[in-house]
Parts: sequence; structure tokens; C-alpha cells
Amino acid sequence: MKLPGSFGFPRVVRFFRFLGGTIHFLSYHFILGRRDTRLSRTAGMRLIVRPTVFHPRYFISSRRFAEFIDTLNLGGKRVLDVGTGTGILAIAAARAGAETVIATDINPNAALSVPDNARANGVGDRVNAVCMNLFSGFLPAPLFDVIIANPPKHADEPRDLADRGWHGGPQHRDIAPLFDEASERLKPGGELYVMFSSHSDLGLIENLIERAGFNFRVVKKYSILIDSFVLYECTRRCFGFAAGSRLVAGNTCYKEGACER
Ligand SMILES: C[S@@+](CC[C@H](N)C(=O)[O-])C[C@H]1O[C@@H](n2cnc3c(N)ncnc32)[C@H](O)[C@@H]1O
Repeated sequence: MKLPGSFGFPRVVRFFRFLGGTIHFLSYHFILGRRDTRLSRTAGMRLIVRPTVFHPRYFISSRRFAEFIDTLNLGGKRVLDVGTGTGILAIAAARAGAETVIATDINPNAALSVPDNARANGVGDRVNAVCMNLFSGFLPAPLFDVIIANPPKHADEPRDLADRGWHGGPQHRDIAPLFDEASERLKPGGELYVMFSSHSDLGLIENLIERAGFNFRVVKKYSILIDSFVLYECTRRCFGFAAGSRLVAGNTCYKEGACER
């Protein structure tokens, strides 16, 4: 049976597009683009949110990701948080035991906020921040045990720096190199945790993850009324094998120093 046009699928798609556009309009004008500094209490942290910095209380993905990091044992690990915003995830990583955390963001106001926020939450001695585009300031060497990233989830042109917290460019252009660059900077067996949403082009993202040499699985899915957040755990695959090394299912390298690129 054919449904009358007014109940057809395209109308539902148009409705959700309209709703998404309205939510972005309100978020941009009242949260992302605001000109004052706010204090936020989120995920058990006290965070200063400077103008244009992604607000970790109004945007639920930040809190959910921080709560997930609380469940990890990062004891003694070197962690990188790419696109740190207020530093909420970097602070969560330090709270989960990380030995050192480097937090980076393309937005200078974000990088400036992190040291104050880390100090206010008792981890100022283990969290450092730098303003940069993705990994541009790091040598392509295995520097980190764990990389975390909560990147912009929508694939449209950002209006300005504040909007880069929401939009990552057509086809996720601004963050597409993240996966290759993360793979180059992870130690053998290192892990990348990255969050997207049902509004992201997940087919494209999963292709980029695989092409960068990761095995991946979805470790968490959080649904809110009009969106769901998808948290991927990506583990670097072996590219070659040193003498005496072993493999586990799915070619995942699990022994430090056991695989070579
Ligand atoms: C969705 S927000 C997440 C912020 C924070 N991690 C959180 O969970 O609250 C994405 C962040 O990535 C930053 N960003 C966007 N493109 C970037 C790039 N190419 N390099 C570094 N940071 C970027 C934005 O400025 C923004 O702070």
C-alpha cells in the first residue's frame, strides 16, 4: 500500500532537518557565540567557559563522554585530548589516573581555559594545553597511549571559530585527517576514543577509521530526544610483526613493542 504523500518519509526527513536547523540556530546565538564568560558545574567539575568555547553543560555529549572516561583505568598512561573545549575530557582523563594529559584545540580561548580549569579541579600538575589544528604541532611518532576526541559532529561549513565546535565542514573536512594522524601518534596497542552522533555521516567516519588502520567497535550509544551519540573505541592494528610477537583476534596488537609500522 502506498502512503499518501503527506505521511511519506521525505516529510519526516524535512521535519528533522528543520528541527536540527532550529536547534543549531538557537545553540549558535545563545550558547556558542556568546560574549561573556560563564561558570559551569558539570560531571563533578567546576569549569570556566570563556566566550566561543563549547559549553559542556548545555551540550550533553561532553558530560556523557566524561562519565565514560571515569570508568577507564588510565593509570600511568600518556593521553591526548584533541578539540578539548573547556578541558572537561582532559580533566576526566587525569582524574582516571593518566600520568600526563595534553589538551589541544583550534580555538585559542579553549586552550587558554584549560590550565585554570585543570587547577580548579586538582589536576593542574598533569594537564597541559596547546592551541593547534589537530596534530599539527606533534611529530608523527608514537607519543600517546590513549587519544580522546569529541569533535564537531555536523558536516556543514562552520560560520566562525565558535561554530567549529558544532560544524566540521562538508564531509567532515576539518577533522577527516584525525584518524590517520592519531594512528601515527599512538603507541602499539594504543586506543582512540572518539564520539560522533546520528547526525554525522557515520558511514564516512567508519571508512576513515578503518583506512587509518584501526579495528573499531561502538562502546556506548546515548540517545536523547532528537539525536544519539555514538562512542567508538578504535584500536590500532598491526602492520608488521617483530620476532616473537603474537596476535589476538582481529589482528589487534596487544603486546608493547610487538608490532611495527
Ligand atoms: C564538540 S566540541 C567538544 C569540546 C570538548 N572536548 C567537550 O567535550 O566539551 C569540539 C571541539 O573541537 C574543536 N575543534 C574543531 N576543529 C578542530 C581542529 N581541526 N583542530 C583542533 N580542534 C578542533 C572545537 O574548537 C571544539 O572545542
